[in-house]
Amino acid sequence: MLRFRVALSAVVLTSIALASTAGAHVHAFKFGEMPDGQMVKVYTMKSNNGAYVEILTLGATLRKVEVPDKDGNVADVVFGFDNVADYLDADKNQYFGVVVGRYGNRIAGGKFSIDGEEYQLATNDGPNHLHGGGDQALSRQVWKAKRFESEDNTERGVKLWYVSPDGEENYPGEVTISVTYTLNDKNELRIDYEATTDKATVLNLTNHAYFNLRGAGSDTINDHEIMINADRYTPVDDTLITTGELAPVEGTPLDFREFHAIGERVDEMGEGEGAGYDHNFVLNREGAEQGELTVAAVLRDPKSGRQLTVKTDQPGIQFYGGNFLKGQEGKDGKTYAYRSGLCLETQIFPDSPNKQGEEGWPNAVLRPGETYRHVQEYDFGLVE
Ligand code: BGC
Repeated sequence: MLRFRVALSAVVLTSIALASTAGAHVHAFKFGEMPDGQMVKVYTMKSNNGAYVEILTLGATLRKVEVPDKDGNVADVVFGFDNVADYLDADKNQYFGVVVGRYGNRIAGGKFSIDGEEYQLATNDGPNHLHGGGDQALSRQVWKAKRFESEDNTERGVKLWYVSPDGEENYPGEVTISVTYTLNDKNELRIDYEATTDKATVLNLTNHAYFNLRGAGSDTINDHEIMINADRYTPVDDTLITTGELAPVEGTPLDFREFHAIGERVDEMGEGEGAGYDHNFVLNREGAEQGELTVAAVLRDPKSGRQLTVKTDQPGIQFYGGNFLKGQEGKDGKTYAYRSGLCLETQIFPDSPNKQGEEGWPNAVLRPGETYRHVQEYDFGLVE
């Protein structure tokens, strides 16, 4: 009995300590364990402006983003799970909030070559390679992490590292990667990616969060409105591999240069499994310097008044409309129905490794001595 009381009061004391240091500070807790016993941690942080964010060391995952609506009511606007087993269940976890890589999106036939040397990756999406492959993809690794807070308490975050060994998922080179999440008091969540390699390789990292600004688990995104700052997109074949063309959006249901409701023209995108919005857009970045952030897309929900502005220094963005979602159960018993969430993945263009040297296609190769850099910023606010 005595032992029980001592244990209990320790728990009470710990939670009092945590509560009194709450506010804008970053905390780390145990989230769960990998099948081999490795601990998965969750980092929690708050802004001084009503936002609350959680990051997992498994997959450098963005697990939770709570932000206020126009009346000050807070809701969680991203998809996720309550335990490690669900995150590792490849059928359920369609890359919810994870960092995908080494090569985010598709590589045709899982093949590419660098300097005349051919590489064969896993074909985990029909005939193609998707989001870094199988069990050793970056989204399934436990990353090292360290929290930080600015002295003036206006921004805070967590930096995660992972060293991917040469040959992991058949990608060449030992690649050292860092992903840093920073939340400031404007409720801007910035993700900085950096990587180096000891052998020429291909790399395309991005965050795969699914958003529903009315609250994750709401039944549709059809009435969200979106603007995408792109005059062109990269058409795909029936296995979703880019054809090499950079085609105008003008006159197509992919013209989002002005705001449109997502549901307005989605039926014009065809029928059948996976049909709908799942395209890479060629961002309008004329005049922007390398590394300069420009607005890629703005998503808004007229009902809640929540708005998300996506900024990046990358040449492309994948707008994926949740066409493969299947009603799986996630956090807090919420279910994620067909087209009830969307991803805005800043990136280089899908299958770029097989389009090197073609006009308008970005470099996909990272060489020793170079540093890969990518900024993906999610700014949460209200519709003006
Ligand atoms: C792709 C989709 C794919 C999904 C997997 C997206 O990035 O564009 O085609 O089905 O990821 O969750």
